[in-house]
Amino acid sequence: MKLNWATIPHPIIALSPMADMTDSAFCRVVRQVSGPGVIVFREMVSSEAIIRGNDKTLGMTEIHEEERPIVQQLFGSEPEKMAEATAIIDRDHNPEGFDINMGCPVYKVVHSFNGASLMKDAGRAGAIVQAMKAVTNKPVSVKIRAGWEDPKECLSFGKALEEAGADLITIHGRTKMQGYTGQSDWNLIGEFAKTVSIPVLANGDIYTPQLMTEALETSGAAGVLIARGALGNPWIFKQIEDQLAGREVEPISLQERIDVIKQHVRFHIDQFDQGSVRTFRKHLSWYFRSVPGAKPFKARLHTVDTLEELDIVLDEVLADGLGGEALSRRDASHPLAADRWFIAK
Ligand SMILES: Cc1cc2nc3c(=O)[nH]c(=O)nc-3n(C[C@H](O)[C@H](O)[C@H](O)COP(=O)(O)O)c2cc1C
Repeated sequence: MKLNWATIPHPIIALSPMADMTDSAFCRVVRQVSGPGVIVFREMVSSEAIIRGNDKTLGMTEIHEEERPIVQQLFGSEPEKMAEATAIIDRDHNPEGFDINMGCPVYKVVHSFNGASLMKDAGRAGAIVQAMKAVTNKPVSVKIRAGWEDPKECLSFGKALEEAGADLITIHGRTKMQGYTGQSDWNLIGEFAKTVSIPVLANGDIYTPQLMTEALETSGAAGVLIARGALGNPWIFKQIEDQLAGREVEPISLQERIDVIKQHVRFHIDQFDQGSVRTFRKHLSWYFRSVPGAKPFKARLHTVDTLEELDIVLDEVLADGLGGEALSRRDASHPLAADRWFIAK
């Protein structure tokens, strides 16, 4: 499939890049559960590490055919290195698009003028876009925050990216200094979208189909990019599709949850190795976060070492039923809750 951000139907619905989470295994699960309409963004990789030929980083850019269409995100501060890394990934793995991380707030990334630091230097940011566009015919998008400290910074920054040739911009409606505090400002995203003529995706705090609708209505954006709302919840894209099509948003049965976890862990082992059940525990935490009735199983899920052990615990969870019909209620106490956790028999 050729990805064209200018012609793709709206609203665009996409999985946001998340380091250590949106790896090939998770992207395959999202694709299987949610179908072909969703675009998946792979976690960021360092352009420097790609150029150095770092095996682990190169491995992170491998693509399973089932995942496509995918967008590979890169971070870096040097236009030439970003271009060189883009060319390597394009040649070796042929993703449908590239994305540049200009929003990451973590020290490890911003201290060397990567991620959100680039919002302080529109000239350099534009040069990166231009350099990448010069070496690939795939679309090049950019993911930014509202600003470094001032949430209005994005308003001039977006124009600079568009002039440099960016094909799409995703904006997380918080500043770098805010981190994850406060709320993503969907009104600001709307203001931002009016400053550019390329599509803009709204990001931040979209955990349910209802919040997707609100984010789109408030911002007027061309679509949404969803991060935490998809963790342990790859069904969100299917639910969004149902909501957009005017269909009933189906609850996720416990059987379905367990089946998908079993599939996901097998993809995870395929991608990494047999010992990687330990690194899968982070996904288990998300899959059972706020699931009422799961508490008695959590300690075992958080310490599981092997696939066999995990299968046994999951079968016990299924046999237990976690309270059955009573569990289809909302767990409104959870900060990410709204109505994302449906469990029905
Ligand atoms: C575990 C985790 C890892 C993340 N890694 C990346 C990343 O690699 N690249 C990026 O642009 N944003 C990254 N983000 C930010 C998200 O893509 C997203 O912008 C942010 O979480 C807000 O969206 P949400 O409210 O839907 O979670 C990460 C977020 C989380 C929670």
